Amino acid sequence: MLRNPLIEVFSSRLLFLLILSSVLVPGIVGRVLNLGVSAPAVQLHVEDNRVEMQNGILQLTLSNPGGVVLGIKYGGIDNLLELRNEVWNGGFWDLDWIETGNQGKRGEFDSLEGTSMKVILQTEEQLELSFTRIWDPSMQGKQAPLNIDKRFIVLRGCSGFYSYAIFEHLEDMPAFNLSITRLAFMLNKDKFHYMAIANNRQRHMPHPDDRLPGRCQELAYPEAVRLINPLEPEFENEVDDKYQYSCENKDNRVHGWISFEPPVGFWQITPSNEFRTGGPFKQDLTSHVNPTTLAIFVTSHYAGTDLVVKFQAAEIWKKVFGPVFIYLNSVSDGNNPLLLWDDAIEQMKIETKTWPYNFPESEDFPRYSQRGKITGRLLVQDRYVSKEFIPANGGYVGLAPPGDAGSWQRESKGYQFWTTAAEGGYFTIENIRAGNYNLYASVPGFIGDYRYDDTITITAGCLIDMGNIVYEPPRNGPTLWEIGVPDRSAAEFYIPDPNPIYVNKLCVNHSDRFRQYGLWERYADLYPDEDLTYRIGVSDYRKDWFFVQVTRKIGEKKYKGTTWQIKFKLENINRTGTYKLKLALASAHYSELQVRVNDAEADPLFSSGVIGSDNAIARHGIHGLYWWFDIGINGTQFIQGDNTIYLTQPKNSSPFQGIMYDYIRLEGSPASS
Ligand SMILES: *[C@@H]1O[C@H](CO)[C@@H](O)[C@H](O)[C@H]1NC(C)=O
Ligand SMILES: *[C@@H]1O[C@H](CO)[C@@H](O)[C@H](O)[C@H]1NC(C)=O
Ligand SMILES: *[C@@H]1O[C@H](CO)[C@@H](O)[C@H](O)[C@H]1NC(C)=O
Ligand SMILES: *[C@@H]1O[C@H](CO)[C@@H](O)[C@H](O)[C@H]1NC(C)=O
Repeated sequence: MLRNPLIEVFSSRLLFLLILSSVLVPGIVGRVLNLGVSAPAVQLHVEDNRVEMQNGILQLTLSNPGGVVLGIKYGGIDNLLELRNEVWNGGFWDLDWIETGNQGKRGEFDSLEGTSMKVILQTEEQLELSFTRIWDPSMQGKQAPLNIDKRFIVLRGCSGFYSYAIFEHLEDMPAFNLSITRLAFMLNKDKFHYMAIANNRQRHMPHPDDRLPGRCQELAYPEAVRLINPLEPEFENEVDDKYQYSCENKDNRVHGWISFEPPVGFWQITPSNEFRTGGPFKQDLTSHVNPTTLAIFVTSHYAGTDLVVKFQAAEIWKKVFGPVFIYLNSVSDGNNPLLLWDDAIEQMKIETKTWPYNFPESEDFPRYSQRGKITGRLLVQDRYVSKEFIPANGGYVGLAPPGDAGSWQRESKGYQFWTTAAEGGYFTIENIRAGNYNLYASVPGFIGDYRYDDTITITAGCLIDMGNIVYEPPRNGPTLWEIGVPDRSAAEFYIPDPNPIYVNKLCVNHSDRFRQYGLWERYADLYPDEDLTYRIGVSDYRKDWFFVQVTRKIGEKKYKGTTWQIKFKLENINRTGTYKLKLALASAHYSELQVRVNDAEADPLFSSGVIGSDNAIARHGIHGLYWWFDIGINGTQFIQGDNTIYLTQPKNSSPFQGIMYDYIRLEGSPASS
């Protein structure tokens, strides 16, 4: 199936959009009203230290040869970007990096300013610029050892612009760690006050000055503040913390800001997750007070050091981040500016449909015909649940670089391609870059991780039919009892209301109540004297299982570990059999999980060792990285009648240390057949 770039962009895409937009979101001026023959040709003006790209709808100004976005003129606003901040201004690609001998936890900041600008394509329809920076050994210790190529594209009739970047590590480059890379926009703070991340996550936001000393009080870490003297009284005593606006990769497709005067929307649209790290459940920042809008490509947020990209000296690596789309829209008089969000969602769907884009000029970005496709049907076999195969409806199925089952959640150098299985467990993954992969899956309702063992080689234009593939989740015997739902998250457990002095009104009465600040302190409020005890058959995990096993504060900066108990009755114990405790964790942060049976003082039957650095507690994630353990318990360790399993987390240096459980199941000893 060949696609002609111009026909594609200017007929099907825009006409489709014309129909969609005018029907679905009347009154919105996006790219649509400017399309067609009447849309002016794109134009480039190159000056000594700046370049202007324009198409009659918007004008994009970049530094030359730096490739920093200095201005976006659109919709009656001279510059959608802020240039008056003390530190961060305009729009820019950046990264944080650490080289041996240059250690620092976060690393050194590198603003990736280009040293050379090149016009890649200039026609009436399309303008693509490249800003490059080539590394050489004299840069060692001063700049991240990477060759950088930042691209910006403006199309005719298009109400926005595209950006992508190609990072390359070569033979002559030293070892280093890449901890963050992103495309960031600092928006005009006089204009953008309303932020939207999802239908139910949008609001009028505090002013950036509300975060200045005198107007706020810093909480347990600098990112979280309590607004004590905000410019607008409605925010008084609310918490502001950018981590409350995080999102999983799979849901992070469009977010941004709305200006009411004049009504203009600024949206960051990510049409594919292929270049993001860590798979569909990796969480990251989106937009937040400043006003800032981010396209995040690499961070260790909600994952820890595993998601820092680590390069050996002379390691050969290249990756394309993006393209992402910056969509601008405006609303005609008399219409509700909040409709701009609805229109941005429609635009996101259109961008997703037209992925992979057929206009980026870099040969490192493969087009449709260079990509392959895989299809199949995922079934689950768990004989203790059903004698039949169970279709993996809603299961997550993905291709990621070869590795162990579940390795994709720590994978950061390659590309990943995920989908959700439909009714019947049928799945199709399209637009996969050529290369070698494993096929992985994670099925809500079942513990563990699936991997199809043979390597899968994707070639240009291929269609691989996997037929039926069967996941046999870990299972040794019948379920004696279970707590929670296996879904890599602690969301189904008890989530307390926040302390009334730490409220973010957006999260009140919300499906994401776990995003409130300070919930970790609520454990000791609810369990002041004794730790949590859960009684099988009596307790309800939705009310009686606190969503995180945190430390308990016992003094100024002093904490102690906690021990939770699960009490249950067991009759007819098989003394020669082995029982299994399946323990799945949704998060761990410098924690150790110890398991004891019927003797709280005994040496632990099991210890996980110190695991995790995902920091999901402090950052209001309901999960970080996923872990699971299979612990054998000898039948002789149980007693007829009442039994207790003790879960101890002894590490105690911070309030953010702890474990979120995903799911716990005790399996009986299997009868020999
Ligand atoms: C990169 O990160 C790893 C793991 O966190 C660490 O062991 C290593 O020292 C780091 N390398 C550099 C060059 O900082
Ligand atoms: C939250 O829900 C409760 C019960 O439905 C209601 O009484 C309360 O007013 C709601 N609070 C907010 C801030 O919406
Ligand atoms: C007890 O466990 C052993 C070992 O798994 C098994 O062979 C035996 O059948 C079990 N007994 C009963 C009564 O289930
Ligand atoms: C169970 O415990 C008994 C007594 O301590 C021991 O003899 C037996 O080997 C243990 N069985 C297993 C499977 O560990």
